[in-house]
Amino acid sequence: MAKQKSGSTNSPPKSWEKRLNGTPNRLMVDFVESLNIDKRLYKYDIAGSIAHAQMLTKRKMLTKSEFSKIKRGLLKIEREIADGRFKFDATYEDIHMAIEAALVKKIGSTAKKLHTGRSRNDQVATDLRLWLRDAADVLKSKIDVLQKALVTQAAKYTNDVMPAYTHLQRAQPIVVASYLLSFVEQLERDFIRLGNCQCLADISPLGAGAIAGSTLPLDRKFTAKELGFSDIAYNSIDAVGDRDFCAEFIFDCALIAVHLSRLAEDLIIFNSNEFGFVRIADSFCTSSSMMPQKRNADAVELIRGKTGRVFGALMAMLTVLKGLPTGYNRDLQEDKTHIFTAADTTSQCLDMAAAVVAHTTFDTKRIAAGIDAGFLDATSLAEYLVGKGIPFREAHGIVGRLVAQCEKQNQKLSDLNLTAFQKYSPAIKKDVYRFLGASNVAAKYVTEGAAGPKQATLQIAYWKKQLSKR
Ligand code: ARG
Repeated sequence: MAKQKSGSTNSPPKSWEKRLNGTPNRLMVDFVESLNIDKRLYKYDIAGSIAHAQMLTKRKMLTKSEFSKIKRGLLKIEREIADGRFKFDATYEDIHMAIEAALVKKIGSTAKKLHTGRSRNDQVATDLRLWLRDAADVLKSKIDVLQKALVTQAAKYTNDVMPAYTHLQRAQPIVVASYLLSFVEQLERDFIRLGNCQCLADISPLGAGAIAGSTLPLDRKFTAKELGFSDIAYNSIDAVGDRDFCAEFIFDCALIAVHLSRLAEDLIIFNSNEFGFVRIADSFCTSSSMMPQKRNADAVELIRGKTGRVFGALMAMLTVLKGLPTGYNRDLQEDKTHIFTAADTTSQCLDMAAAVVAHTTFDTKRIAAGIDAGFLDATSLAEYLVGKGIPFREAHGIVGRLVAQCEKQNQKLSDLNLTAFQKYSPAIKKDVYRFLGASNVAAKYVTEGAAGPKQATLQIAYWKKQLSKR
């Protein structure tokens, strides 16, 4: 840092500098600046400024030639930023001031009319809502890619039975396809949630000014329409202080992260030697610097781990908002760090999850070899007895005793002969064997949405059609 007298700066002039005595303290400049973070809003800031200038022209506060000059200047700045030619100077505090100062340099004093009837308070609220609209679209398209990867994989495994777990104990047989499709459902809710978030964020705060609107005849509906908003915010005080949409967006990301972390956890367990249900391709594994045999599922472990960042962002955002006095407060500048962290992390994890899913195979032979362990067919046997007129609670007791017996003798239910069965219930007949064994059971599921091959096939057809429409 260059030596400066008593910590003051030689910073370029600020739009508000006439109000304050002397130059700002260096510590202060560094502390309040957000340019390093909010520079990624430049496209939206420029779009908002062009719409605002156009409105000022319509309302005769700018001439047509002033408007053209402003617009041309802003578009040049946009190109410079996009090409990496723009010099960002953090002493300008934020992207709004940096662009305005650059415009003054480029086109002279006409640029000083741009901020007529506007405050950075309504400006940044507008930028953020525009950013969120695009960011949610990006996440939605990545969700879509992951859903398609899951459906493609599911279609390969409609008849391959695996155990389903509750309490991580073997529960009932399912087909691998149904397991995979369970994530497509979760992700569909995430997709819809992001759309809902976009709907609520779809109002323009522009023209709310600093907090109370303006005495100038601004046309708020015009700028709203220019920027593609479906309406305006109807209370200027709320318009500049509202960041609900930020918290909601991060929550949506947090729930996506929850879903991805559960998928990750499953794959980590399934990829272990103990389970050996899946093989994640080498290109998505790492090894150990010490143990040469290792194939670690680091990609999915990091998906699970990065959930922490997104949760952190949610908690931080809510904390920024809690107890803020009505109106704009500088605390709100912190919103960007958190929405960007949430969006970037979620986006990265969605990409990685889609890649891992596409590069994972289920070891159906190994799964089949162990499928008879754990009495996956016990519930089916109880339901068989219900079919023979036995009340479910009694049937449950009969099968419970049968299972305990088998466990002692290291047998499976289908190992028992009819005489052995009939000792427990005379209602059991020869047809019982059709209700035993994991594959038999899965094929017998009849309820809608069940985890058998018939339902999986229907669901795959549904999702293929549904996802092709997007
Ligand atoms: N950089 C600020 C933010 O992100 C912009 C608004 C600042 N407004 C103000 N009056 N200081 O929130």
